[in-house]
Amino acid sequence: MKPMVISTTKGLEIRIRNFEMADIRRVMEIEEEAFLEGDADLYLELYREWPEGFIVAERNGRVIGFEVLILTPEEEGRVFAIAVDSRFRGKGVGRALLKTAFNLLRKHKIGFVRLEVRVSNWIAQRLYKSMGFTEIGFVPFYYKDGEAAILMRKVL
Ligand SMILES: CC(C)(COP(=O)(O)OP(=O)(O)OC[C@H]1O[C@@H](n2cnc3c(N)ncnc32)[C@H](O)[C@@H]1OP(=O)(O)O)[C@@H](O)C(=O)NCCC(=O)NCCS
Repeated sequence: MKPMVISTTKGLEIRIRNFEMADIRRVMEIEEEAFLEGDADLYLELYREWPEGFIVAERNGRVIGFEVLILTPEEEGRVFAIAVDSRFRGKGVGRALLKTAFNLLRKHKIGFVRLEVRVSNWIAQRLYKSMGFTEIGFVPFYYKDGEAAILMRKVL
């Protein structure tokens, strides 16, 4: 993907580009703050598997959000992780990252995208629903702390 400067739906100017190795520290800071369950080795492994699927948003040269996409064996896209620096949430960055993902997957002729989200994470669920995802399942004890996941899917 060529880097793109865009204005989010909330008027924040950001640059969206592919992840680079030098971003891993910032990505891990954002991921730890967001209490996701990844680790740097896993993210780097996923990056090696599909570099195009690892996208970051930056503002003034600093990474403020990221998203990791993978391709499933069923040839669906999956949003493996998405998080925005807490200081920049609610400004349209998550929505912009997801839109970028949809376009990338469509370019690869992928017809569906899915994701898992914590039952308690209504903010993320609201975002996904507003972008066309629907609930297709429920996985008890999906997360390490025992919380269940809602499975969501969207036709691209
Ligand atoms: C989920 C997350 C990535 C969304 O990113 P974001 O940049 O804050 O989201 P956006 O500003 O693009 O918001 C899009 C929609 O999300 C919902 N939303 C975002 N912040 C919200 C808030 N504080 N309260 C209620 N709804 C909110 C709204 O539906 C919003 O749509 P609107 O702007 O039209 O009202 C971000 O909140 C985050 O990093 N959370 C922690 C990590 C996480 O939960 N990741 C998802 C794991 S599945």
